Amino acid sequence: MLQVRDLDVFYGDAQALDRVSFEVAEGSIVAIVGANGAGKTSLIRTIAGMIRPAHGRITFRGEEIAGLPSHRVCNLGIGQVAEGRQIFPSLTVGENLEMGALLPRARDKRDGQLARVFEMFPILEERLKQTAGTLSGGEQQMLAIGRCLMGQPDLVMFDEPSLGLAPAIVHEVLRTIRDLNAAGLTCVLVEQNVAMSLKLADRAYVLENGRITLTGTGEDLLADDRVRQAYLGM
Ligand SMILES: Nc1ncnc2c1ncn2[C@@H]1O[C@H](COP(=O)(O)OP(=O)(O)O)[C@@H](O)[C@H]1O
Ligand SMILES: [Mg+2]
Repeated sequence: MLQVRDLDVFYGDAQALDRVSFEVAEGSIVAIVGANGAGKTSLIRTIAGMIRPAHGRITFRGEEIAGLPSHRVCNLGIGQVAEGRQIFPSLTVGENLEMGALLPRARDKRDGQLARVFEMFPILEERLKQTAGTLSGGEQQMLAIGRCLMGQPDLVMFDEPSLGLAPAIVHEVLRTIRDLNAAGLTCVLVEQNVAMSLKLADRAYVLENGRITLTGTGEDLLADDRVRQAYLGM
């Protein structure tokens, strides 16, 4: 569904991604794991059309998307739940969800999709008129996911969805990702929480200093000595 080939990304002279290649099969969960600063967010932002790569190809369902503006990438069906839960804090929950449905591909299906989001996150319907900035961290993450789903994505990239959340909420967020995947959503999961994301992933890639250094099934990498030493403290 998504193929990334030999991606190079620079910030000025500093190289953030170095010949990164990976692929995402339709219907799968692919995890990209790596330490802080490895380049995970840069990779997501490049796929999302927010950073222009210096080199490389990104194809989605056979169409070249590298260099397309982000609204066009979104409208092809690639959604993003950004690092740090980028909701609009001064808007209400309902207004945030409506912002997610502004994409041309989503407008017609808005009401049905809103019903689905409320079914998944009943708390968002209860808090419809509440200002988003006053929600708890976990509720804000639900809202960020709900808003993304309002855009009718076929593939969603989740950037550190568990960061800063209490363990019980982390669990809930991961269960949500698993349920969405079971309902047909293709997922890219970017995490520092390596054990957790490898358990969930069909395929995983380790990103180190801007390079993919290891790949395998989630299970393979969980059992890999290098991964266990570097990321799992075993
Ligand atoms: N806007 C930016 N300008 C300059 N350097 C950046 C910018 N964003 C990220 N970087 C640098 O790129 C590297 C990768 O960062 P990032 O993609 O955020 O990693 P991760 O998400 O894995 O923590 C880091 O060295 C970081 O300091
Ligand atoms: Mg990051």
